Amino acid sequence: MGAGSLSTSFIAGVLAVRRGLGKAIGALTQLGLLAGPPECPSPVPVGQAVPLSSLNDLAFGVWDILPDSVYRAAVKARVLDRELLDELRDELDAIRPWKGIFDPRYVHRIQATHCRPRQGHRANVAEIDRDLGSFRESAGIERMVLLNAASTEAYQGIEEIHSDLKLFERALGADDERISPAMLYSYAALRQRIPVVNLTPSHAVDIPALLQLSEEMKVPVAGRDLKTGQTLLKTILAPGLKARVLGIAGWYSTNILGNRDGEVLDDPQCLKSKEESKLAALKGILEPDLFPELYGDLVHRVRIDYYPPRGDNKESWDNIDIVGWLGYPMQIKIDFLCRDSILAAPLALDLTLLADLAARSGLRGAQDWLSLYFKNPTVKNGRQVHDLLAQRQMWEDELHRIAGWKPNGARGA
Ligand SMILES: NC(=O)c1ccc[n+]([C@@H]2O[C@H](COP(=O)([O-])OP(=O)(O)OC[C@H]3O[C@@H](n4cnc5c(N)ncnc54)[C@H](O)[C@@H]3O)[C@@H](O)[C@H]2O)c1
Repeated sequence: MGAGSLSTSFIAGVLAVRRGLGKAIGALTQLGLLAGPPECPSPVPVGQAVPLSSLNDLAFGVWDILPDSVYRAAVKARVLDRELLDELRDELDAIRPWKGIFDPRYVHRIQATHCRPRQGHRANVAEIDRDLGSFRESAGIERMVLLNAASTEAYQGIEEIHSDLKLFERALGADDERISPAMLYSYAALRQRIPVVNLTPSHAVDIPALLQLSEEMKVPVAGRDLKTGQTLLKTILAPGLKARVLGIAGWYSTNILGNRDGEVLDDPQCLKSKEESKLAALKGILEPDLFPELYGDLVHRVRIDYYPPRGDNKESWDNIDIVGWLGYPMQIKIDFLCRDSILAAPLALDLTLLADLAARSGLRGAQDWLSLYFKNPTVKNGRQVHDLLAQRQMWEDELHRIAGWKPNGARGA
């Protein structure tokens, strides 16, 4: 759900690649290689190793709380060139959002003009069910994947009602305000056995009650918050510094971004959701308990500022205070001028195809092997892996298992 910068860049990008108007750079499912089977270990394209759905078979439907078609929304997002969007106009204009489920307690900075009337949670779930059913019929599709690409919601901590499915369903009946729209979409999809992927920092499908539902319904789920810019670099660099036992005294990260995501994050309650997920990685990688002399006193700060002139072209700065031989201090500075949705769109494509593959392969619940894509990965056993190379290995291992190149007994978490 959500037809903003990320979704429209993803949808328009897939249509462009289909027509040969661009390359799917950044999408491992399209350009990545996997080591082949033991008898013939040379690398093979991912799509040859495992049965992925073809880009030609994808159809798109969106919910939004604004009425713009995907074409209009993409033009407003100003991520992709107008000429490219105009070439795809007919197809993009035909994707009109269904009315979203809106709760002003969770998103304050958008004037919702295209949403269902305020009604109870159960009535909202019934509306989502209807939309999913009519999309399945009109698009003539067999299977679906739900991507949560809606605005970051105001921070909602995990409370008792989120910790168990029975309590959650009771709270649903009582219209408990601690149940957010993102949780409602996720709940409805899981009950229809549709895999759910949370691209946002909000607590949605990753609450324990919905993870329980995903296990019971035998549906795979993944999340949270795509790892695109600064955190991607952090999870590449930190394992390298640790591999050479260099100390880190502090890591100060700051960002400016000017898209609507940035505007929503200008709200302190929504920012709290984002900061929580941005802070997760370093501690997990550096293991200060094992290396107290190197990382025990690490100070990690992350700041995000809404700065409209930049639009989707975000800039992030990192100052890393590292410590070497005999405690002598050094500094590393990074200035990353990135394009947020250009980095995120290929991940949305991979996750759509891989969540569908996981469902067809009988996988259920949190998919640890998809941690590669997320800042704050949802995992089965509570032990997150953040090191990008370790995540990539988990990803390859699971694909090898799905391809039948490793014994089933070797299946991990
Ligand atoms: N753009 C990126 O590169 C990127 C990277 C990592 C994570 N994310 C996360 O993905 C999400 C979307 O990012 P974006 O840049 O597309 O933001 P965006 O503001 O451009 O788009 C979000 C869309 O969601 C819609 N929306 C809000 N509440 C809704 C609801 N209840 N139901 C349906 N639609 C709703 C908004 O109207 C808007 O069109 C954010 O949470 C962001 O933090 C984005």
